Amino acid sequence: MIKKAIFPVGGLGTRFLPATKAMPKEMLPVVDKPLIQYAVEEAAAAGVEEFIFVTGRNKTAIEDHFDHSYELEATLQAKGKSDALKLVKAMIHGPGAVQYVRQQQPAGLGHAVWCARHLIGNDPVAVLLADDLILGESCVREMAEAYDGGNMVAVMDVPFDQTDAYGIVTPGDDDGRIVNVRGLVEKPKPAEAPSTIAVVGRYIIAPDVFATLDSHERGAGGEIQLTDALAKQIGKAPFKGLRFSGERFDCGSKLGFLQANIAFGLENGELETDLRNWMVGRLS
Ligand code: G1P
Repeated sequence: MIKKAIFPVGGLGTRFLPATKAMPKEMLPVVDKPLIQYAVEEAAAAGVEEFIFVTGRNKTAIEDHFDHSYELEATLQAKGKSDALKLVKAMIHGPGAVQYVRQQQPAGLGHAVWCARHLIGNDPVAVLLADDLILGESCVREMAEAYDGGNMVAVMDVPFDQTDAYGIVTPGDDDGRIVNVRGLVEKPKPAEAPSTIAVVGRYIIAPDVFATLDSHERGAGGEIQLTDALAKQIGKAPFKGLRFSGERFDCGSKLGFLQANIAFGLENGELETDLRNWMVGRLS
């Protein structure tokens, strides 16, 4: 069972300016829910009970989002809007279940994860990047069910010319769902990529990874990469990639974000018919 999850939310969101100048990118809504809430719900569906946010300056909206809003709750109560009240109360986790640690300066995903080291004991922990939004089954639940020690990443095949946007796997045995990871490299150029099997922002990492991150070695882009720390564990611990069943949207890009809004809108009972009709008219 995976009981803890880390959510690195300290990034500046420069790919999404000006929207993210004063608002955390993780608070961008897909239909009616911020990206970070989708990630938290995905982890909760996998049995996660402790939610650790690695946050930074200008990110207090995230803390507020997972806390009570007394004025809002009192107003909804007074107006008898019980459905809306239920919705906002359902997001509040028990005392101590949500923890925040500040990453004073962005220095890469590996560094962000390392900032949470004191909150992690000796158990494996999930890491979720809220930018990667997954429609369908909880990806972390699928991973937790398939996990049998060591490290695990969610993977998907990407077009050949996009390898330089992802951690890329050197595959070993591959049964079509679980692929044995024999190597991992961060953002290789297409000509140098060992495959087109890419890491999506879902990880289950063993505590040893934190010790490896202690060295603060910098990798691709001059950043401390989680990919590099995981690669160093190869041979010491099992390392698997899971092809998850859901559909992933890159909500760190404008196109992926728009696609996610349309795809999730089409899954929404209230919106589906009107959205579909509008799209058909618009495109004809
Ligand atoms: C991060 C990881 C990369 C992974 C990607 C998935 O990169 O470093 O290995 O493939 O997330 O979205 P980022 O997109 O934060 O640059």
